Amino acid sequence: MLERLDKFLTSQNICTRKEAARLVRSGLVLLNGQQAHSPAQKLDPQTDQVTVEGQPIEYRRYTYIMMNKPAGVLSATEDRRTPTVLGLLPPSLCRRGLFPAGRLDKDTTGLLLLTDDGPWAHKMLAPKSHVYKLYRAQLQAPITPEDITAFEKGVAQGGVTFAPAKLYTLPGEDPLAAYVEIREGKFHQVKRMFQAIGNQVLGLTRLRIGALCLDATLPLGACRLLTEEEALKVFQSPEGPKGP
Ligand code: URA
Repeated sequence: MLERLDKFLTSQNICTRKEAARLVRSGLVLLNGQQAHSPAQKLDPQTDQVTVEGQPIEYRRYTYIMMNKPAGVLSATEDRRTPTVLGLLPPSLCRRGLFPAGRLDKDTTGLLLLTDDGPWAHKMLAPKSHVYKLYRAQLQAPITPEDITAFEKGVAQGGVTFAPAKLYTLPGEDPLAAYVEIREGKFHQVKRMFQAIGNQVLGLTRLRIGALCLDATLPLGACRLLTEEEALKVFQSPEGPKGP
């Protein structure tokens, strides 16, 4: 399908629409080796070659973004009262159709993915995909061997039984910081699982989805584009020893 050049550049997260017009006017955009003459010029993203300031643009149909979600924002596209994660995106990453792929509670921090690829998000979130998510929970009380066994078997709370989960602490770390790996995404799941064993979550951070780890260089509230290979990591199992 043919697309306007400025829309194409925005969709590839190269620049904003306004910047696209400036780049074209400055003669910095080539379309199939020829200087582009208008931001409204049409191209076929699948077959046409675009370069900006000499850099070839590799066409990507979808956008995948990793965010280190801060507390206090909703994993939603819009809300009348509370700021949402979409509001944290820098202008260069904003594009129509983006949504958070899965939810973290308002007070939960860490790895959140945003995309405009519905089938990818659907597959990642589908219970049958068995995508494991790793969380670090700051707890009110240290975990016991019985808690580990209970999580392994699957705890029940409020009439709901949760699928078996891994629970552990890491040697040398705060004994009140436990790691939990779950493959479901039920409402307040981690908090409810700890509630079921008489403990309480005081803070929660998501560190990994499948084999995709939260980029440790991303400050809270920051985000970056993922490559397509990184986006596919959510469907892989993490390798190596347990832990982040
Ligand atoms: N489990 C929770 O309780 N909250 C989250 O945000 C994610 C998992």
